[in-house]
Amino acid sequence: MLELQALAKRHGEVPVFREVSLRLEAGEFLALVGDSGVGKSTLLHAVAGLEPIDAGRLWLDGEELGGLDEAGWARLRRERLGFVFQAFHVLPQLTVAENVGLPLQLLGQAGDRIRARVAEMLEATGLDGLGGRMPAQLSGGQLQRVAIARALVHRPRLLLADEPTGNLDPGTAARILDLLDAARRREGTAVLLVTHAEAAAARADRVLRLHPDGLRPGRSG
Ligand SMILES: Nc1ncnc2c1ncn2[C@@H]1O[C@H](COP(=O)(O)OP(=O)(O)OP(=O)(O)O)[C@@H](O)[C@H]1O
Ligand SMILES: [Mg+2]
Repeated sequence: MLELQALAKRHGEVPVFREVSLRLEAGEFLALVGDSGVGKSTLLHAVAGLEPIDAGRLWLDGEELGGLDEAGWARLRRERLGFVFQAFHVLPQLTVAENVGLPLQLLGQAGDRIRARVAEMLEATGLDGLGGRMPAQLSGGQLQRVAIARALVHRPRLLLADEPTGNLDPGTAARILDLLDAARRREGTAVLLVTHAEAAAARADRVLRLHPDGLRPGRSG
């Protein structure tokens, strides 16, 4: 469902990575590991059209994405992608429930449907009772879970997640990984997850390590 062919990225003259190729099936869980600074976050941003690439081609559900304009990318993100950023990007002026429901709001869903789905996601991420809070009143791990709930609320085809369990205790992290499993099984969501956590990589179907010259089979760490 996702295919990358020889993606390359530079920052000015400085190469980040090249020859990054990958095929991801519906419902597949791929863990992406690699040293700090090797370009994992950059690669996730590139797959979501948030960062331009310098070479290579990418497809989602058979559609080549290279020709999309800004509006096309925005629509694709809204309808088919979920993104958990390394820095969360939870909107500080909205409540927890409004943050989680935002993707559905943008898709024009009805208020009672949004409320029901948000309640389900808050429960699944262990945030029940916190829907009325503002983000400033949450811990780091709670914020991370708001970001995860928001990324899955609209049942995306592809979830791109950058260290989504980094701030969580082992029990809460396991619960989040269960949630990803459920999305895979029930909605066929494919998961591309950047992680250094052994426990997260152990749950993946495959682990790939990003090197400056491409992806190779790898272990976490
Ligand atoms: N705007 C920028 N201009 C120049 N270089 C940049 C810019 N943004 C990122 N970089 C560089 O690109 C490289 C890849 O960064 P990226 O954030 O993708 O790494 P990462 O693998 O996600 O690292 P980490 O594991 O620490 O999160 C780094 O060497 C970084 O310094
Ligand atoms: Mg990163």
